[in-house]
Amino acid sequence: MKTVVILGAQWGDEGKGKIVHLLSDRADVVCRYQGGNNAGHTVVSGGKKWVFHLLPSGILKEKKACIIGNGVVLDPYAFSEEMTLVQNEGVDTASRLYVSDRAHLIMPYHRALDSMYEESLGIGTTKRGIGPAYSYKYARIGIRLCDLDEREYLEWITKRALDEVNATIVGKYGRNPVTVREVMDALEEYGEIMKGYVTDTSRLLAEYLKEGRRIIFEGAQGVLLDVDFGTYPYVTSSNPVTGGVLTGLGIGPGAVGQVLGVVKAYTTRVGEGPFPTELEGPTGESIRERGCEFGASTGRPRRCGWFDAVAVRYAVRVSGVQALAMTKFDVLDGIDRLPVCTGYRIDGRDTDRFPANVFVLERAVPVYEEFAGWESTAGVKRYEDLPAEATRYIAALEKLIGVPISIVSTGPDETETIIRGPLAVDAG
Ligand code: GDP
Ligand code: IMO
Ligand code: MG
Repeated sequence: MKTVVILGAQWGDEGKGKIVHLLSDRADVVCRYQGGNNAGHTVVSGGKKWVFHLLPSGILKEKKACIIGNGVVLDPYAFSEEMTLVQNEGVDTASRLYVSDRAHLIMPYHRALDSMYEESLGIGTTKRGIGPAYSYKYARIGIRLCDLDEREYLEWITKRALDEVNATIVGKYGRNPVTVREVMDALEEYGEIMKGYVTDTSRLLAEYLKEGRRIIFEGAQGVLLDVDFGTYPYVTSSNPVTGGVLTGLGIGPGAVGQVLGVVKAYTTRVGEGPFPTELEGPTGESIRERGCEFGASTGRPRRCGWFDAVAVRYAVRVSGVQALAMTKFDVLDGIDRLPVCTGYRIDGRDTDRFPANVFVLERAVPVYEEFAGWESTAGVKRYEDLPAEATRYIAALEKLIGVPISIVSTGPDETETIIRGPLAVDAG
């Protein structure tokens, strides 16, 4: 199967946007399968920088079909803003962008609830309404794109949703109630924005797969933020893991050809939650500055730390990752010694397992193995041109994680990349 899942194998922001954009040259279709506009996927191409929140990162490549699957939660205002941005730059999106009729909508009250919950829960969410939208989906009071033309249904489901909304925002937070009228007005606007994009994308994908098209499944966030496998409760509310591809797009397991995990050569995290290899001193600050580690969505400074092989090995296992794309080598240029976490010491015991409970993970003390740093990898485009210390770092990490590092990224631009391994989208 000439398809590849490209997902984050750390806490998000690994450089998925760059890799998806780059590989979309070799593909026909790019699909988002989960998350929403909490994502911020950066693409640097032709001297210009783009950040995609909702649109698949293949959107800049003309003629490639782009799909937003049923597993995504969609805020039409964010969709409209992003569409305007790309269209104003002359990107032709006509007849190549498809949104699932079964995707759930992020309502204005979801955004309001996200901010209210944040005050007490302190997860450090992006406040885009993601958590509440998924909660309402599973509570069976969500509103989907396929509902937008069904006025009677909309009134019926809105009343059911508002019972819950108002119980919380009036009863718990003492704010003004949301009325059916204002929700119906917003939904009318949603209908206008989304007109012409909504379709049965599972069916469309079935056709593409039958025709043998090359497809990229683009993950948002990362495995360590997955609601099942991440550092719960400091996670997002969806499944970035490979399993999410099937439920988020309505396709079978045979549709997945290859799973490519994206990781940084170090680690970052934005928002709250445990982070065993975090560097709180000047080294962390220097990596943040050099790596421009500020959120692509919210602008928040990202927490930085050394590479954690325990966490990545775990992410690789739960997602069936077969190869890695490793980014941001250049950010480590000039650092003398590079510690890599190879195990944890928890309550006096050594382990190579990633614990399920966050209080346990908070107590994990990283066990480090040190590697020699290198002078410069910035902009290197051929594996042979990498300094020996960098190739030794790569070989050591491959051994620690157990999968090949098939792509090495040495700068933000799409051209600053070394592609080593075989990729499913290249299959004949
Ligand atoms: P995503 O959410 O996984 O798509 O990643 P983000 O776009 O949020 O964050 C990755 C950041 O690193 C962006 O600013 C990219 O332009 C940048 N980036 C990606 N690869 C490299 C690289 O190899 N070197 C450097 N210096 N920056 C990179
Ligand atoms: P991309 O796709 C990094 C984090 C938030 C917060 C937690 C829950 O660009 O890698 P949410 O708004 O999803 O309920 O927030 O998840 N988070 C991300 N961190 N990259 C992202 O996306 C993220 N999307 C959400 O900071 O800790
Ligand atoms: Mg990001």
